[in-house]
Amino acid sequence: MTSVDSIKKQFPFFSQTKNGKPWAFLDNAASCQKPESVLKKMDEVYRTTYANVHRGIYDMAENGTKLYEGVRELVANFLGARSVDEIIFTKNTTEAINLAAYSLSRRLKPGDEILLTEMEHHANLVPWQQAALRTGAKLKFIPLNDDFCLDLSGLHSLLGVKTKIVALSAMSNVLGTVNDLADLIKKAHAVGAVVLVDAAQAAAHLKLNVKDLDCDLLAFSGHKIYGPSGVGVLYGKAESLNNMPPFLTGGHMIADVWYDRATWNTIPAKFEAGTPPIVEVIGLGAAVKFINSVGWDFILNHEKELTRSGLKKLLSVDGLKLLGPKDASRRGPVFSFTLDGVHAHDVAGILNEYGVAVRAGHHCTAPLHKKYGIVATTRASCGIYNTTEDIDRLVVGLERARKMLD
Ligand SMILES: Cc1ncc(COP(=O)(O)O)c(C=O)c1O
Repeated sequence: MTSVDSIKKQFPFFSQTKNGKPWAFLDNAASCQKPESVLKKMDEVYRTTYANVHRGIYDMAENGTKLYEGVRELVANFLGARSVDEIIFTKNTTEAINLAAYSLSRRLKPGDEILLTEMEHHANLVPWQQAALRTGAKLKFIPLNDDFCLDLSGLHSLLGVKTKIVALSAMSNVLGTVNDLADLIKKAHAVGAVVLVDAAQAAAHLKLNVKDLDCDLLAFSGHKIYGPSGVGVLYGKAESLNNMPPFLTGGHMIADVWYDRATWNTIPAKFEAGTPPIVEVIGLGAAVKFINSVGWDFILNHEKELTRSGLKKLLSVDGLKLLGPKDASRRGPVFSFTLDGVHAHDVAGILNEYGVAVRAGHHCTAPLHKKYGIVATTRASCGIYNTTEDIDRLVVGLERARKMLD
């Protein structure tokens, strides 16, 4: 039977200690540790079957291509996509959203509107700002309510015939808020808008199904789902991708080339210019297999328990202000907070001494922090291998930080 203990044993990182204790690694919203199966697969490919993909006809090139393209199928199944052609490999979520923003902006004109939310990561904000600058389109934002969830009461005035693109996160990397997307996507489609979902956080915490969601595009990163850095995914409905011009141009993405022009390959090749992150993609495949082996029932139950425990214990810390919903059913196990009288970076520094790894700063959501008049928060974010004991260690460390610096 799956247990957190048996999961943790699969991650070589946890043999590391700090002052004689194993780490309580609570920075998973930034990036996750990697299981042995991912490390082993990548090592094996480099040692035995490495070659460029889609080009050679010798054994290694053919094996490498088979492994690489096999991951497209794994990811298509992971997301519930209709076809492998709907899976584009990118460098990360940021590149996937830049691809979408660049390509979709080619059809924007002055006065068109792009609807975002106030909780977006810079990766799902700055590319749209640039798209708006290039085209004269306007950005609009769905505000937040007092419980750090989307306030949809004014949606009818934000979403209209001018709205061409709606781009929003499935789960906030700061607030932990899980957004209810299906109804919003339906309403966006009713006015003819294209919808992109930023699933950078959600991909590790929620079972995604792009068919059920009916989003047009969705982006996530390998390194946040226990896979390697350097690889991400843009899912797109085939009809959307077929209608989008390419982003990066060069080798592999062409059908034919003359000195003065070129024609484009079919999807997904049209969006994968140059040598892709071959071994990283294969490592991503191993990460998807790892998640499948743990199973979503276990992940969802375990993380619900971490969310409940985290909320209860953190809200009992004197002087702690949580930036995020207090209702466990509206959020995932990502907790950002301030501690009265102690700077977020000092909190993170003290926790480090106790072997508790958290992050301090604006977590690439500067506008959200400005909205609440906060320069920085400390963020503790859980993954599949965390336990309620890790949260206990966090709470003990926070109490010590307050005593030391208050
Ligand atoms: C919600 C969200 N979107 C986008 C990103 C960007 O991901 P990456 O840095 O892997 O491109 C992150 C990273 O933290 C994120 O949390």
